[in-house]
Amino acid sequence: MKLRWMAPIFVMALGLPAQTAKNSCVECHAALEGDLARPAELFANDIHGKNGFSCVACHGGDPSSDDPEVAMSRGRGFLGKIDRRSVPARCARCHSDANLIHRFKPQQRVDQLAQYQTSVHGQRLAAGDVKVANCIDCHSVHDIREVSDPLSPVYPLRLPETCARCHADAAHMQGYRIPTDQFEKYRKSVHWEALAQRGDLSAPNCATCHGNHGAAPPGVASVAMVCGSCHVVFENLFVKSPHKKAFDNMGLAGCVVCHSNHDVEKPTLALVGVQPGAVCLNCHAKGDKGYEAAMQMRSRLEQLAASLGRSDDILKMAESSGMEVSEARLGLGTANESLVKAEVDLHSFDPAMVDGAVAKGLEVAQSSYRAGQKALEERDYRRKGLALSLVTIVVTMAGLWLAVRELDNRRKKSS
Ligand code: HEC
Ligand code: HEC
Ligand code: HEC
Ligand code: HEC
Ligand code: HEC
Ligand code: HEC
Ligand code: HEC
Ligand code: HEC
Ligand code: HEC
Repeated sequence: MKLRWMAPIFVMALGLPAQTAKNSCVECHAALEGDLARPAELFANDIHGKNGFSCVACHGGDPSSDDPEVAMSRGRGFLGKIDRRSVPARCARCHSDANLIHRFKPQQRVDQLAQYQTSVHGQRLAAGDVKVANCIDCHSVHDIREVSDPLSPVYPLRLPETCARCHADAAHMQGYRIPTDQFEKYRKSVHWEALAQRGDLSAPNCATCHGNHGAAPPGVASVAMVCGSCHVVFENLFVKSPHKKAFDNMGLAGCVVCHSNHDVEKPTLALVGVQPGAVCLNCHAKGDKGYEAAMQMRSRLEQLAASLGRSDDILKMAESSGMEVSEARLGLGTANESLVKAEVDLHSFDPAMVDGAVAKGLEVAQSSYRAGQKALEERDYRRKGLALSLVTIVVTMAGLWLAVRELDNRRKKSS
């Protein structure tokens, strides 16, 4: 009973959707201009507007009065324009309230503020730095959309630009001792390519690696975990490799040491080995075990790649002369998989493991090569046979022609 009596007050305090028809805030603001009118125009697309909330949910005030002195009076709880430092708390009045939020979305998280407070953004804001991101810098304001809406600024394809608005703006970031190249580099990465060009939403955007609300650079200890949350097989091999402990001791961050963080490129054979450009050379020198291993892995991988190339060439030749080599083609596919496996196994940094995969691939690649060779021999044999029968036909035709002419001549003579 007591609760029911409290309800209307509760509704007013939170600005819950109340069934009052009057909304002077929207009515009056829609008729104003510029920054004063825009919120009312945008609000039609806002998830809060769509769920029946209105201006008072964030700004307070009294929407039942047409008199601005009353509608926007402090006495009626009006807060004015919300200053940047108090935005998170304002949003969290609802978003940290499971009872309220779960009425609209039963599975929704309610830890955004708690997470935000752990982030570099949240900590700096609490210390008075208003240049960091708060809730509305990432979600916008007055047209806040569901995060799954492709038009939302936090939708995976749009998020990098949202972060870049500050992080790629040298003027905005002046005074902080961090680079402003993350966006530029990220846009060159295999991850952005997968996301933007192939629409692969499982590829990471900024927030996948940094956290949605807890944005901070992953620490040295957690980088392998960040990458490994998707590249599981690589991580499992890496953590058992001699590099795990060695890198930990050197204070280096796992995968990033060789692949970088923002401009992760498509890895090639050029990374492995002891030739200029190989990443192994950054730390290993002639005479140490890693150097030897790098050389060995490189030559084995190269050997398989070359063998695959030769087999592919010969099969192509056979195919273009119409020979049937589909089985050998299939085999070559398996050998290609062995190369991929060897490139994965490389992350054990154990040459014997790479050797195993290479040996398997070489065997199949060589047998495909032999099949190609056989097909070409068969082709040559058939070609010889064809030439022979052509010669026979020509000789026979010539013989016939001579015979006919001879007959003709005789007939002419006798007549
Ligand atoms: C009759 C017209 C009218 C009504 C009703 C009205 N406003 Fe305003 N509002 C204005 C005008 C004009 C301004 C700009 C001048 C000012 O700040 O007083 C303004 C300013 C604001 C601002 C910006 C304040 C600032 O500090 O910059 C906010 C926020 C706002 N209104 C929200 C509301 C809300 C919420 C309601 C409903 C509870 C509401 N308004 C009702 C006319 C109105
Ligand atoms: C989800 C919370 C939320 C709701 C709902 C909301 N606002 Fe706002 N509003 C804000 C915040 C936060 C700011 C401060 C924006 C900033 O710092 O740029 C703001 C700023 C404003 C301003 C000042 C604009 C300026 O640039 O000076 C006006 C006017 C305003 N709101 C009116 C409205 C009106 C009218 C409605 C209803 C149609 C509304 N707001 C609904 C959160 C909200
Ligand atoms: C640095 C950018 C950033 C800031 C700051 C930020 N968010 Fe988010 N928010 C995100 C991203 C990214 C997502 C997830 C999008 C997705 O799932 O695709 C998200 C998701 C959400 C969701 C959906 C539920 C969930 O947790 O996934 C809500 C609600 C939300 N944010 C509210 C807030 C509130 C409230 C604040 C301020 C306390 C805030 N956000 C601050 C980027 C941000
Ligand atoms: C009066 C309560 C209330 C306030 C204040 C409030 N919200 Fe919400 N918000 C909701 C409800 C209810 C939903 C719908 C349930 C949901 O989607 O989580 C919602 C939805 C959202 C969503 C969409 C989440 C999704 O489902 O994808 C985002 C993002 C969001 N709010 C951000 C904010 C931000 C940022 C602020 C502060 C500027 C804010 N909210 C202030 C109640 C509120
Ligand atoms: C409104 C501007 C703004 C937006 C938008 C923004 N940031 Fe920031 N961010 C900052 C500022 C300012 C800092 C403080 C820099 C510092 O302290 O080194 C910061 C700090 C960080 C840091 C910590 C850097 C460090 O080493 O100190 C990370 C990580 C970060 N932001 C990631 C993101 C991501 C990811 C997004 C998008 C989801 C984002 N930010 C959106 C302004 C912004
Ligand atoms: C694949 C994961 C990943 C993605 C995607 C990613 N980052 Fe990072 N980011 C990292 C890692 C790891 C570090 C820490 C680097 C280190 O310690 O060597 C980092 C560091 C940072 C820093 C600290 C300053 C610096 O440059 O070292 C900022 C700021 C930052 N990232 C912002 C962004 C933004 C903005 C985006 C999107 C445009 C983004 N990151 C995308 C993994 C990622
Ligand atoms: C959210 C999941 C996710 C995270 C986190 C992630 N990646 Fe990726 N990564 C992908 C996807 C998806 C692709 C594209 C796969 C493809 O091209 O087939 C990819 C591609 C790659 C490639 C190229 C593979 C190839 O064969 O071309 C490398 C290298 C790579 N990631 C390294 C990293 C590193 C290093 C990190 C951590 C800093 C990381 N990834 C974090 C999902 C992720
Ligand atoms: C010591 C350097 C080094 C470290 C550390 C390292 N990698 Fe690699 N990685 C390489 C090299 C070299 C290649 C290229 C192999 C090739 O193409 O022959 C590669 C290739 C890859 C590929 C592409 C494989 C393919 O099929 O082409 C992915 C994905 C990858 N690494 C992910 C990771 C992840 C995730 C981590 C951390 C758990 C990691 N790497 C740690 C050196 C490293
Ligand atoms: C950031 C520095 C760094 C890079 C880059 C690096 N290593 Fe290492 N590696 C080490 C350290 C440190 C150790 C452990 C100390 C040692 O045994 O030399 C180690 C150990 C090894 C070992 C084990 C050696 C043993 O004693 O059994 C192998 C094998 C190895 N690395 C191969 C490679 C290969 C191959 C690459 C290139 C793909 C590479 N490393 C790149 C630093 C690096």
